[in-house]
Amino acid sequence: MIIKSAEFITSVANKKDFLMVDKPLIAICGKSNVGKSSLINCLANRKKLARTSVTPGRTRLVNYFDFGDFILADLPGYGFAQVSKTEKQKWGELLEEFFSCKQKVTHVLSLVDIRHDPTKDDVNMINYLHHFSIPFTVVATKSDKIGKTRIFQRRAEIGKFFAIGQESVLAVSSETGYGKDKILEKLDHVLSVFNDDFFKIEETDDQDSEE
Ligand code: GTP
Ligand code: MG
Repeated sequence: MIIKSAEFITSVANKKDFLMVDKPLIAICGKSNVGKSSLINCLANRKKLARTSVTPGRTRLVNYFDFGDFILADLPGYGFAQVSKTEKQKWGELLEEFFSCKQKVTHVLSLVDIRHDPTKDDVNMINYLHHFSIPFTVVATKSDKIGKTRIFQRRAEIGKFFAIGQESVLAVSSETGYGKDKILEKLDHVLSVFNDDFFKIEETDDQDSEE
């Protein structure tokens, strides 16, 4: 897939403002500072499309981007220790509302830092996605921080953590662009399945209306 354009749409803080879109919706989640916004910039080939920060917990809203063939939602990061209890609760509610909203999420890119084992929050997130049958891919970020030979090993270790195969764990570096092609390949596949299903539903509807 070639990303031809990517534009910021809006930031949303309440469920009543969640977008209803007629394109596949891809969400990016992961703990604060894992590199969600950086990955968006990397995919878009833009430096400042999504705001990145050295201070964790900067993205507290759902930020929507139009990537042409799909809409991308940058979700607020979790697991940031210095955030108050009330704020954590608000985050949890927002996420739950996002995933249970009428606008179904087509696929989630769930980010973890390739250098570290997933945290309890990461495991909870994946269990949540599993539980609600939301398709996801684990993306191990900051791959430039470890040697190339370690990348393969870490993908397998992270996969084991979530009880998923290492083929479901993609390694990426937003800094060097390493692994970006694999993510785009995955999205290509996700979008083609979405379109096939979409047209199948349309065809079924047509048949019904003829009866
Ligand atoms: P929140 O919005 O706070 O949840 O963070 P985020 O997940 O959006 O992280 P963000 O993209 O802002 O990146 C956090 C920090 O990690 C920044 O200093 C980035 O420059 C750095 N970073 C992100 N991706 C990479 C990467 O692939 N390699 C390296 N070396 N640094 C990265
Ligand atoms: Mg961010």
